[in-house]
Amino acid sequence: MLPLKGLILSGGKGTRLRPITHTSAKQLVPVANRPVLFYGIDAMAQAGIREIGIIIAPETGDEIREVAGDGSAFGVQITYILQDEPAGLAHAVLTAEPFLGDSPFVMYLGDNLLQGGIDDLVTAFRANAPDALILLTPVPDPEHYGVAELDGDRVVALAEKPPEPKTDLALVGVYMFTPLIHEAARAIEPSARGELEITDAIQHLVDTGRRVEPHIVQGWWKDTGRLDDMLEANRLILDRLAHRVDGELVDSQVEGRVVIEAGARLERATVRGPAVIGAGARLTDCYIGPYSAIGEDCVVERAEIEHSILLAGSSVRHLDGRMESSLLGRNVTISRGDRQPKAFRFMVGDNSDIEIL
Ligand code: TTP
Repeated sequence: MLPLKGLILSGGKGTRLRPITHTSAKQLVPVANRPVLFYGIDAMAQAGIREIGIIIAPETGDEIREVAGDGSAFGVQITYILQDEPAGLAHAVLTAEPFLGDSPFVMYLGDNLLQGGIDDLVTAFRANAPDALILLTPVPDPEHYGVAELDGDRVVALAEKPPEPKTDLALVGVYMFTPLIHEAARAIEPSARGELEITDAIQHLVDTGRRVEPHIVQGWWKDTGRLDDMLEANRLILDRLAHRVDGELVDSQVEGRVVIEAGARLERATVRGPAVIGAGARLTDCYIGPYSAIGEDCVVERAEIEHSILLAGSSVRHLDGRMESSLLGRNVTISRGDRQPKAFRFMVGDNSDIEIL
């Protein structure tokens, strides 16, 4: 068998994470201060995959290229593949065909996180040599996912967001394919939402008598496409943090599992983990509560923050109440003045979401 290649999908529209995705790729939103995309690259490198193709969109491709580079930082070789329009996951596979050639490959959605990596999946694929292998996990609300129907160790039917699901087994955003998938992707028509669906291509494999095997995921899996999912992914990753304090603490307290990067400075601050504080951050007279990821060069002054993600360069100052379950983009400023009468004043981009609780 030819060596396994990797394909990471980092194009798409990212409408559910607006306004963050107006200016940046959702795959670069940090989880525990690392772009979510990096976890997929890590998983592939860990499984021994050396050649990775990353699908990029015209709007956000340059930024992804700049952040992930040539792959040498991960011990892999990255090839960037431009997909002109977000015409579906199977369209992304076809776009990558010149890169993939006749190789079998792992496909990984660039905004997904899979605990425990993909090693056992690669092992199962090599051992059983099916025509395709799909990852499944039981979910309480299968009607929101692609759902699989099984007969023993074979997948017999797939349905995209079925109103009345026949099982609770949702498709996880990681798949293993042989080159047969290209032919299947060419054979299908766009769905009602105008996309070439990967579920239709896999269904085509099933319908033409190919062997599609299920693999039930053991650990957790997260699709970070919406704010709540992003915060949950942040929680799950922060939960396995190893305590490390490299920054400077002045009259400050650090409790529990906390990472404070070199160059961060805390003065009269309390950080209760799990939490991560990025390089160059300045925290003064403040409280950072559990499940917070404070990005590089952020400033927090006389404020309380909990269960939130702040991207690089943002600042939160002089807040009365605690900020929680929030996601701030880059260089966002939130502050309270001391003028009377008290009022709210906002300068906020399209599709922003502000709640005063
Ligand atoms: P989705 O999250 O399903 O789609 P999206 O990115 O367009 O987001 P939204 O629904 O919020 O508008 O895509 C899953 C992953 O696959 C994500 O990392 C983007 C990527 N993708 C592509 O690379 N090309 C595509 O044509 C599509 C549809 C998605």
